Amino acid sequence: MAEEKKSVHTPMILKMEKICRGYIDQLEKGGKQFNIQNFMMMYIFGATNNTEYRTKLFDHWPTYLEDFAACKEIMGYRYPETLVDEFLSLKLDKNVKILDVACGAGNVPYILKDHGYTNIDGLDPSDGLLKAAQTKSLYKNTFCCYVTPDEKTPIEDNTYDVLLCSAGMFPGSIVPQAFKELIRVVKPGGILAWNIADGYEGFNDFFLSYDKIINDHVTKGDWEFVQPTKKMENMLFEDAGYTNVMRKK
Ligand SMILES: C[S@@+](CC[C@H](N)C(=O)[O-])C[C@H]1O[C@@H](n2cnc3c(N)ncnc32)[C@H](O)[C@@H]1O
Repeated sequence: MAEEKKSVHTPMILKMEKICRGYIDQLEKGGKQFNIQNFMMMYIFGATNNTEYRTKLFDHWPTYLEDFAACKEIMGYRYPETLVDEFLSLKLDKNVKILDVACGAGNVPYILKDHGYTNIDGLDPSDGLLKAAQTKSLYKNTFCCYVTPDEKTPIEDNTYDVLLCSAGMFPGSIVPQAFKELIRVVKPGGILAWNIADGYEGFNDFFLSYDKIINDHVTKGDWEFVQPTKKMENMLFEDAGYTNVMRKK
């Protein structure tokens, strides 16, 4: 049977090549062997939009988080750790109830547990990724669903002290029109912190009004800035990103 014609996201292939070069460079300096082949599969399925196989890969990759921690210098991906750093700088009580949105396999709680934060629920539409996270008991509860502007998640109003969303907004993922749903599930006075790649205005039409939507929620009194939006360099290799920390009013 003929293979269906696939479109390939070339920038992602170039990122793979960069990871491979970084890996070889560190081997040449006498560095360690890593389980890098699974990361390459992950990127290949990402570059070909093969969500089905990307998810199956996670089902068979119980050591994803350890593997990622072992080679994060060459992966060039700093979204989870930089968001956690912003959260930690708030010095909140260790028992705060946290929702990790677009949680994937649990990068955020994997870092947070070393800082004493374990009261964390996870939300992601990928059952395979949630199962991978749960093999490590990283979440108290999980919600397998999408965050969209049109439909409520099964979470009650005003449930969480903190909502974190690391790398959950990009083309084809959570759109800024859904901020209202994220605000709904956070307690008044609670924190919402997320990050997003530079150039978000060009993701698609939904993101053209990203800044306006944030500011409209300020004007309406839904939330306020805890700190100005922070631009951070080298969030995914040389690509910059932005981190926001808001407080629900
Ligand atoms: C790049 S991963 C980020 C994973 C993790 N938060 C991290 O920082 O490493 C993006 C995640 O967003 C999830 N996602 C995609 N669309 C979503 C939506 N509409 N609502 C919630 N999560 C979504 C995907 O399943 C994927 O796990």
